[in-house]
Amino acid sequence: MFNAKGGVGKTTTVVNLAACLAALGRRVLVIDMDAQGNATTSFATTELPRKGTYNLVTGSAGIAEVVHPTLIDGVSLVGATDDLGIIDVELAVGSMGKGHVLRDHISDLPDDSFDLVLVDCPPAIGAMTVNALASAHAVIVPANPTPFAHDGLMRTWRIVKRLAATINPALYIQGVLLTLAEQDADWGVEDVMAAELGSLVFPLRVPHDPKVFVEASGHGLPAAVFAPNSPGARVYLDLAELVLADENRLWRAAKGAATDPPDLAPTRSRAEAENALAGWNVKARDQGLLDRRVNIPELGQPLPPPIFVEEDAAPPGCSVGRQALVALLGLVIGAIGTVMVQGWLR
Ligand SMILES: Nc1ncnc2c1ncn2[C@@H]1O[C@H](COP(=O)(O)OP(=O)(O)O)[C@@H](O)[C@H]1O
Ligand SMILES: [Mg+2]
Repeated sequence: MFNAKGGVGKTTTVVNLAACLAALGRRVLVIDMDAQGNATTSFATTELPRKGTYNLVTGSAGIAEVVHPTLIDGVSLVGATDDLGIIDVELAVGSMGKGHVLRDHISDLPDDSFDLVLVDCPPAIGAMTVNALASAHAVIVPANPTPFAHDGLMRTWRIVKRLAATINPALYIQGVLLTLAEQDADWGVEDVMAAELGSLVFPLRVPHDPKVFVEASGHGLPAAVFAPNSPGARVYLDLAELVLADENRLWRAAKGAATDPPDLAPTRSRAEAENALAGWNVKARDQGLLDRRVNIPELGQPLPPPIFVEEDAAPPGCSVGRQALVALLGLVIGAIGTVMVQGWLR
């Protein structure tokens, strides 16, 4: 899931698509490559994983160590941890950054462990996005149909095409998903997208529905589990069906005709999938997750220490402050000394 613009519904699409693919009977691994970690906190994970994508990409853990189960049967998670925020800086100065690290780890997964892997990208091109797009065979681009979003879409297009031409020739844009679509607004952007991209725009529109989507994120749940009967949840189930129906085509495009694609048809009917989502909703309710907003911190809690400062170490400003004080004292003493010497000489 990639778009060079933030706030367009990438994370929301990853977590809801994952829940809906699982509802249709498929096993999904979600990999959170964004330091914001919003996908990580969207599966009712009360205890956050200590190791995740940072460890994978820097080589301090193998994939088996970082895969965690979630509330949703069929969805597992490789989470984002705090240190992911500085990984681009570390990779830029070190030699650990190779674009294919994630792909190698994914190929280490046992063949029968997952049917699909969904990767949530940050909204910019950096080591994590390059790793994600190097390991993927299809990109879904969520885009909200507003004027700024169109510019983001064009930048996204150029980035994906460039990476397809350089590090991953098997990379395809599977489709553009219209998200956060206002009922009444008509900016003309949807028409422009349709004219430019034709059938690459999914025939779906995720409605702008903060009561469902923002509220669900507060509870740390996919909207499709938080409100399984909402219009938005139904669109994500439509998307899951479309994605599974399209897998054969993408497989052939990526690998040619030499090997047969795996059978990724849904193993559950639409009605069974809706029941599965409703079942996870009951499970979340039983665990008290619908009564509390896990992703909103309680008032008055102290802030955690900044990630650059080691615990018990003096803040970095301190030594600079001390040096400045010593230099200032030196100047003052020097100035007094000069005045006195001048006095004596007179
Ligand atoms: N269809 C929607 N209706 C209303 N709010 C939405 C919808 N989809 C996403 N959101 C909200 O919009 C914000 C940005 O979505 P998010 O998925 O985090 O975007 P991105 O990952 O692209 O930055 C979040 O607060 C999310 O809850
Ligand atoms: Mg996001």
